[in-house]
Amino acid sequence: MAKLYGTAVDGDEGVLAAAAALRAGAVIGLPTETVYGLAADATRPESVAAIFAAKERPSFNPLIVHVADVMGAEELADLGDLGGRLAEAFWPGPLTLVAPLRRPSAIADLATAGLATIAVRVPVNSVAQQVLRAVSFPLAAPSANPSGRVSATTAAHVLSDLGDRIELVLDAGPSAIGLESTIVAIGQRPTLLRPGAVSREALEEIVGGRLGLSGSGARPEAPGMLRSHYAPAVSLRVDATTVDPGESLLAFGPPVGNANEAVEVINLSAAGDLTEAATRLFSALRELDDIGAPIAAMSIPERGLGLAIVDRLQRAAAPR
Ligand code: TXA
Ligand code: MG
Repeated sequence: MAKLYGTAVDGDEGVLAAAAALRAGAVIGLPTETVYGLAADATRPESVAAIFAAKERPSFNPLIVHVADVMGAEELADLGDLGGRLAEAFWPGPLTLVAPLRRPSAIADLATAGLATIAVRVPVNSVAQQVLRAVSFPLAAPSANPSGRVSATTAAHVLSDLGDRIELVLDAGPSAIGLESTIVAIGQRPTLLRPGAVSREALEEIVGGRLGLSGSGARPEAPGMLRSHYAPAVSLRVDATTVDPGESLLAFGPPVGNANEAVEVINLSAAGDLTEAATRLFSALRELDDIGAPIAAMSIPERGLGLAIVDRLQRAAAPR
């Protein structure tokens, strides 16, 4: 069971323990003003993979990367003039900006789901701030709920849902807002990807015009699920047991018999380790995409992180 630190009673001790756990690569329950997050070092692929592993039915949605201040955000993302104005108006606070990722990036591919953009946010919650300043690396943190369940707004929610899967939860009392951050994509036309704690009206005042709306609003809570996910331009088929002429092979475990005939072979994990495979997935897709040959992907066991990997590959394989 996760160790619970109440910042009200344990003070700095909780923050220090959280920082130490994060430095060691662990996943922790972190309070923010919106909801509790499942946080880990955004620059370490295996730590980001561990966040997904802690979710019961994981799928590799891109994650919000939390930083201590605007400067930290600018290092990771090109916020541009509009992003700068929104940051000035609403940070620190419950606004997430999706902006072009600066490359080369220290952020693990898995945190951005291989996208060319990154979601960044500067939380105002003082405990979140103390932890971010103590570690001095960005924290990837989705809401701390198992997939399909409502977001956690108290440390007790986090403990009961995920306490057996994470090391530590920092209790800073009930989330002040209790609703996820508003997500705005900076672009040709700024777009509201997820309504949240910062109102559309307040945003439009700064933007100086109407915000575009993403999709039909039918599932506004999951803007990253479908269209914006990185999809390779080349075609991909799953459950390959041989390589056809002209194909690249995305292998897992011992490669198929005629792997030597492939245009290129990338093995997600020769040892058949699902965590390792998860950390390599998006960079492997990107590399094979650059080569340009259709991809034959070997089957992946549908357990643990394998579920999310298969989900991702099936999306890439779906007719488009
Ligand atoms: O209030 C919050 O934002 C909380 C706290 C912990 O900060 N976090 C949170 O994260 O709600 P999560 O993972 O539950 O939601 C992140 C959303 C997802 O719907 C994801 O698709 C979207 O952000 N997202 C992340 N990166 C994106 C990107 N590059 N483009 C579009 N959507 C993105
Ligand atoms: Mg969520």
